[in-house]
Parts: sequence; C-alpha cells; structure tokens
Amino acid sequence: MVAAMRQLREPLFVVKMNGTVLPVSGGHAYLCGDAAPADAHPLLGFAPPCLPEQLGDPGFCAELGIRYPYLGGSMAKGISSVPLAEELGRAGMMGFFGAAGLPLKSVETALDRLASSGLPYGVNLIHSPHEPELETALAELYIRKEVRLVEASAFLALTLPLVRYRVHGIHEDADGGIVTPNRIIAKVSREELAERFFSPPPRKISQGAGGRGEHHGPAGRTGRSDSHGPGGDRRGRFRWSHG
Ligand SMILES: Cc1cc2nc3c(=O)[nH]c(=O)nc-3n(C[C@H](O)[C@H](O)[C@H](O)COP(=O)(O)O)c2cc1C
Repeated sequence: MVAAMRQLREPLFVVKMNGTVLPVSGGHAYLCGDAAPADAHPLLGFAPPCLPEQLGDPGFCAELGIRYPYLGGSMAKGISSVPLAEELGRAGMMGFFGAAGLPLKSVETALDRLASSGLPYGVNLIHSPHEPELETALAELYIRKEVRLVEASAFLALTLPLVRYRVHGIHEDADGGIVTPNRIIAKVSREELAERFFSPPPRKISQGAGGRGEHHGPAGRTGRSDSHGPGGDRRGRFRWSHG
C-alpha cells in the first residue's frame, strides 16, 4: 500500500479482492454498483494523482522560476551550504545559503560559486542589531555580487542596509514599467512586522537608501518588500530558466 501511495502520478484505487484490501492503479470505477460487471470488486477508496508541482500557488513558482513551491530556509554558518542550495535548485526548488555568522570572505566565496552554478538560489540577510556594520557589509556585498533574492530574518523594522539592497538598481524599462531587480522574502513572526515589509519604507530611510521618498519615483513606489508575494511588482524581471 505504501509503495502504491508513493506513485504520485498514478490514481490510487483501494479495492477488496477475495477478502484482501489491495491498492490498484488502473481499471474502471463504477459509482453505481448496478452498472459494474459481475466480476467487479468493491471499491473502498480512491485518490487522484497529486503531483508536488500542483501544490501551492502556481504564481509563486512562476515568479521565482521554480518548479515546486518549496524553499529551503537559511541555516546559519553555512549549515544550509552551497551544495544544499545547488541541489535544491537542481531539483526545481530553491535553497537559501546560510550566511549568518560567517566571515564576509566565506560568504563572498559562496556567492561566487552559487552564481557560477547557473541555478536559482537565495541568500540570508540576518538583522544584526549588535553589529550594524556587519549587516551593512553583507547588504553591500549582495548588491555588488548581484544577488537577486534575499531571505531577510530577525528584522524588527526596516533598516537602511535592507532598504538600500531592495531599491538598488530600480529603473524604468522602455515601456515605462518598473523593474525591481532585488527581491526580499521576509521571515516575520508578527503581523506588525509583515505590515512594515508590505509598506513603503519610511521617508528617512528611503532617502538615505538612494530612493526618492515614499511617493515619488520608482524607488519610492517599489522600495517596499514584495507586497504581491515574492514577485513583488508585477513587472519584476526575476525569471529563471532551467534550460
Ligand atoms: C540549525 C538551524 C539553523 C538555522 N539558522 C537560520 C538562520 O541563520 N537564518 C534564518 O533565517 N533561519 C534559520 N533557521 C530557520 C530555518 O531557515 C527555517 O525557517 C526553520 O527551520 C523552519 O523550517 P522547518 O520547519 O522546515 O525546519 C535555522 C534553522 C535551523 C534548524
């Protein structure tokens, strides 16, 4: 039965044959017993095929360019390693490299390797209230290395390095659409925090981050985190092809 249940691409019929309950993947089921052939067996249960790629919101996968709606969360000090992120990417999911607690140089090496893999990946940016310069240095590294997706964790409010990362590179395309290359998936534990990530950054921060304030210009309009889910702005250009 367990082996049959693992055949996700096949329908599963549970039938009673000669007093034994058996899993079957083919055949015909008759809802009306009278219509069934004389040698038909009682049908005890049925489950249609259920594929991992059919779970979740298809828009989530489309926006991130992944096949399955699964993200491997960051685990500090490289526990979620480059090979782990690569394997997840190879398998049609996405993994976040666990950059927290690592020297900047190690993070840089990991980023180079991830970039050269050609696979989708993300990287952790963890709020460091006691080491603000570290948070700044990491955010600047992500900008410099053109990391396109960051998992932001432990933030209690938007900070300048985070907003600077988010607004970096925002521009209008030839059709006047706003392109927001850098994306943030925020890990939040409370509604108030989610609200902060869904809102434009405070004017003081957005100005410091190089934006033009809450209500003016592309940076002001899209400096917020991804209010439509990881896709954020509907015209975002974050796409991935598995070749
Ligand atoms: C050993 C370990 C280290 C973790 N380190 C981080 C981290 O550095 N940054 C972070 O955002 N989340 C961290 N997490 C949280 C995971 O990314 C994930 O969100 C959490 O484990 C929930 O997912 P799960 O239910 O699949 O375990 C860590 C989790 C574990 C188990």
